[in-house]
Amino acid sequence: MKAPKIIVAIDGYSSCGKSTLARQLAAKLGYNYIDSGAMYRAITLYFLRNGVNIRDKEQVAEALSNIHLTFVFNEHTGKSEICLNEENAEHQIRDMLVAEKVSEIAAIREVRSFAVAQQKQMGKKKGIVMDGRDIGTVVFPDAELKVFMTAEPDIRVMRRYDELVATNPSITIDEVKHNLELRDYIDSNREESPLRQAEDAIVLDNSVLTREEQLHKVIDWVKERASVIA
Ligand code: DC
Repeated sequence: MKAPKIIVAIDGYSSCGKSTLARQLAAKLGYNYIDSGAMYRAITLYFLRNGVNIRDKEQVAEALSNIHLTFVFNEHTGKSEICLNEENAEHQIRDMLVAEKVSEIAAIREVRSFAVAQQKQMGKKKGIVMDGRDIGTVVFPDAELKVFMTAEPDIRVMRRYDELVATNPSITIDEVKHNLELRDYIDSNREESPLRQAEDAIVLDNSVLTREEQLHKVIDWVKERASVIA
């Protein structure tokens, strides 16, 4: 008998390797992978491009009503890429200008309700792996498997630096460190659904794990959870 499909919620600090794990896991299970951070980044890109004043509630509401977010699957990368009003924005949303603003914009209540409503909808049919900051606590509080990822701060900085320096050679380790620390601080201390470990989440510290090792661990957890509901 085929195992029933479940929801896997992966949360954690910036640059813990959540998206790498989520993507590999989804590919292995034949599930959909949704990078919820990409949605907040795309909204931020729209706000930056259109000079939206985030202190003006009407401007924020108007901007949100003009944003249409979709994901398209890229067969080469195995990743669902985000489209902002039908334009593939996957590369632009990784820009440092977006990274510097995204935590502030993701802290706005109206922005969160806009994104969370769409995320909940995507989980209706199960068979989904979603990563972010509030997936196990707010988006899918009933997810069958919740993983909370952590890694040593210095390891996270170097992973992020290695990723960014390929497209931005002038970036410094200090800049990356500062941005990560600031984002983690804002994400954990905001009023609206701050980053928290769900009580029933399993902690995965991947500081000294290879990608294969962490994937095997999580696949075992999925098998356990899926067999419980079979
Ligand atoms: O995962 P990421 O670094 O691409 O996320 C970008 C920002 O979006 C991050 O600073 C916090 C925010 N975010 C959030 O508030 N809730 C989520 N579910 C996902 C991301």
